[in-house]
Amino acid sequence: MMQKKIMILGASILQLPAIEKAIQMGLSVVAVDMNADAVGFRVPGVTKEVISTIDIPEIVKAAKRHSIDGIMTLATDMPMRSVAAVSKEMGFGGIDEDAVFKATNKIAMRIALKDKNVPVPNFFKASDKAEYLNAVKSIGVPFIVKPADSSGSRGIFKVSDLEDKKLIDEAYSYARTYSREGDVIVEEYMSGPEVSVETISLDGVCHIIRITDKITTGAPHFVEMGHSQPTCLDAETVKRISEVTVQANKAIGIKCGPSHTEIIVTQQGPKIVELGARLGGDNITTHLVPMSTGVDMVECCIKIALGEKPDISQKWDKGAAVRYFRQRPGVVKSICGIEEAKRIPGVKQISVVHSVGEEVTDITGSGARIGFVIAQDENAKAAIADCEKALSKIKIEIG
Ligand SMILES: Nc1ncnc2c1ncn2[C@@H]1O[C@H](COP(=O)(O)OP(=O)(O)OP(=O)(O)O)[C@@H](O)[C@H]1O
Ligand SMILES: [Mg+2]
Repeated sequence: MMQKKIMILGASILQLPAIEKAIQMGLSVVAVDMNADAVGFRVPGVTKEVISTIDIPEIVKAAKRHSIDGIMTLATDMPMRSVAAVSKEMGFGGIDEDAVFKATNKIAMRIALKDKNVPVPNFFKASDKAEYLNAVKSIGVPFIVKPADSSGSRGIFKVSDLEDKKLIDEAYSYARTYSREGDVIVEEYMSGPEVSVETISLDGVCHIIRITDKITTGAPHFVEMGHSQPTCLDAETVKRISEVTVQANKAIGIKCGPSHTEIIVTQQGPKIVELGARLGGDNITTHLVPMSTGVDMVECCIKIALGEKPDISQKWDKGAAVRYFRQRPGVVKSICGIEEAKRIPGVKQISVVHSVGEEVTDITGSGARIGFVIAQDENAKAAIADCEKALSKIKIEIG
């Protein structure tokens, strides 16, 4: 049989697991990234295309030139629009452009979900300051304002005081800075535990692969600081979360391929934060799901992109967790204790993203985080404890 060719959008460290897996599977890989020095290009056997992952016309041209058999991206939102465009042009089936649009624009998403009675927070779109102030009046406090079309927890702001006019103004400017098209979304603040749900849809049926508990930096910016599996929520809540997730996938129109649905379990039950028509990032699908279930979601997605049948059956039920290093702004002077931390039973990986000499900020977005620890153990609680133990050994000096 001829070697099949897959195009992978993104060649940064985030996409590396997909590139490496595809090579291991014996596929021919065309990687696309605007950064000519991206790490993924250095994987032996990879064909390099230096194009922005959101430059749809150029990606379509390259896909045709290489006569690819399938296309995917791992855990980024906007390149999904390029995936859908290529799939349509080349007749791959896969996800359609309408579903991708709904999954990458928070306003279109909220409308599609609300139309199908999927539980969402009360929300308003605001295209300018006047619309924003009106929305704030209607929603009341606490509210969240965020860009309509960004990701990576950029531009998110929580406001709790209607009298604080300065903060209300600042929140708008902050969210708007990160918006591509200038629109922001103002919504009711949901309080309660937050989870994400990894799914794979096949032939129109949405299968739940794993539910992840998450912790964030909290207000005002809510950057993820840790994830663990399986969720520790009770069976009844898990059932409700699963139902809402399946409904949400249907409402957005995902019939085939992965999704990453974020949910907050409020007093009125689970409500959708957002849904990505892609694998979950932050090591959730590349590391935690395989460790806790034995399901190789990256391989599944590669197979789906090529029109093959993936193996989504759960192999075991263990715990897995990731915890990010706590930090403050300044220049990283030294990082000690990594080797000792690595020897803690259960600890599987420790990665440093911003190393000695680099300037770091407060954690206002996921890109700012210095590093993380991943552990696997009998259950979620034990895996979290392993991570915490490792974090306590790691000393980061910031000057
Ligand atoms: N209406 C809301 N109520 C409560 N918390 C919210 C709300 N909207 C967002 N958040 C918090 O902010 C986080 C990020 O929001 P959201 O997922 O919409 O943005 P994002 O930029 O797409 O983030 P990411 O790419 O990191 O998932 C959520 O995971 C949640 O913790
Ligand atoms: Mg999100």
